[in-house]
Amino acid sequence: MEKNRKIIGLCGSLRKGSYNAMLLKAAGRLIPEGIGFEIVSYDDIPVYNADNDLPESEERPASVTRFRAALANADAFIIASPEYNYSIPGGLKNAIDWASRGKDSPLMHKPVAIMGATQGMWGTVRMQTAFLPVFTFLNMNPVLQPEVLIAQAQNKFDADGNLTDEKTISIIQKKIDNLISACRV
Ligand SMILES: Cc1cc2nc3c(=O)[nH]c(=O)nc-3n(C[C@H](O)[C@H](O)[C@H](O)COP(=O)(O)O)c2cc1C
Repeated sequence: MEKNRKIIGLCGSLRKGSYNAMLLKAAGRLIPEGIGFEIVSYDDIPVYNADNDLPESEERPASVTRFRAALANADAFIIASPEYNYSIPGGLKNAIDWASRGKDSPLMHKPVAIMGATQGMWGTVRMQTAFLPVFTFLNMNPVLQPEVLIAQAQNKFDADGNLTDEKTISIIQKKIDNLISACRV
């Protein structure tokens, strides 16, 4: 990855105390110096409506235009998300839908690393699997290995929100390394 490159993080949970927000911050701290990292919020964008998705006419909601512009600055993405009802949380999918449209989609062709944390036993595997056809249709470059599947998240972070599980940290580091390598090709 060249200098001044930037990775953008999206979190699938908006709640205070989100384990996935903690995970995203932990992943951000593992990105080497010299590569920017920013977590971009999408909590102000409306439910997708194609009638309001008119790129040429400034008819897109301002929050969506801001979101797309922020994503356009990214060389790569990290998505950390819980699994809701065996799938992608609706709010995150909605944000992806807004970002996905048009030849100028800021998602197109970009490397993306997916990871997730749950208090349950299955580590968000079904959410991550649900993302695969989305990445395929958007012509993104998913960095699939190693899989970051954090089960029983309540045992892997301390009271200050720091990831304390060394094995998990090393898996995330490898994933970040692979994401950065994917930016070079
Ligand atoms: C609407 C909803 C659906 C959920 N569905 C699942 C699920 O399918 N699988 C799972 O492991 N956990 C499920 N959970 C539990 C979440 O994984 C758990 O609350 C997790 O901590 C949420 O992530 P966060 O800490 O980043 O907010 C669900 C939670 C909510 C609120």
